[in-house]
Amino acid sequence: MSLSFTLNGQPCATQAPDHWTVLDLLRDGLGLMGTKYGCGEGVCGTCTVLADGQPIRACLVLAAHVRGRVLVTVEGLERDGRLDPIQTAFAERGAAQCGYCTPGMMLAAKALLLENPSPSEHEVREALSGNLCRCTGYTKIVEAVLAVAGSK
Ligand code: FES
Ligand code: FES
Repeated sequence: MSLSFTLNGQPCATQAPDHWTVLDLLRDGLGLMGTKYGCGEGVCGTCTVLADGQPIRACLVLAAHVRGRVLVTVEGLERDGRLDPIQTAFAERGAAQCGYCTPGMMLAAKALLLENPSPSEHEVREALSGNLCRCTGYTKIVEAVLAVAGSK
């Protein structure tokens, strides 16, 4: 099938097999390896990307879903060589250990901050509750998101 959508601020026109998920499209079709495969069953949140500003689980959603939408992956957080404040906060606060969950965590946080620029700690924890960290680094992750919220 043919697909046209906006990917990280740029128009993208490509082909994909009908059965591909968004994760297949990003990694196998477009070579964007920042979005990670974790469980493949919609449980861990590692594959989280944004579609029209909303977090989706790329392993569960068919690639056809992106047609006409605005997709943002971790590669799209940086703009003109400048890191997104969420990326800076994660780095400065030590919120990434092995880093495998980090792209999905940052995009879940981005979605939250787009909707609610000043979340409480409870709201941050709730927004990230579907994203699992195998390194159990939740405290620093929450601190990083709150630091971004506090800087606005
Ligand atoms: S890989 Fe998609 S939710 Fe786990
Ligand atoms: S930093 Fe290792 S899984 Fe979260």
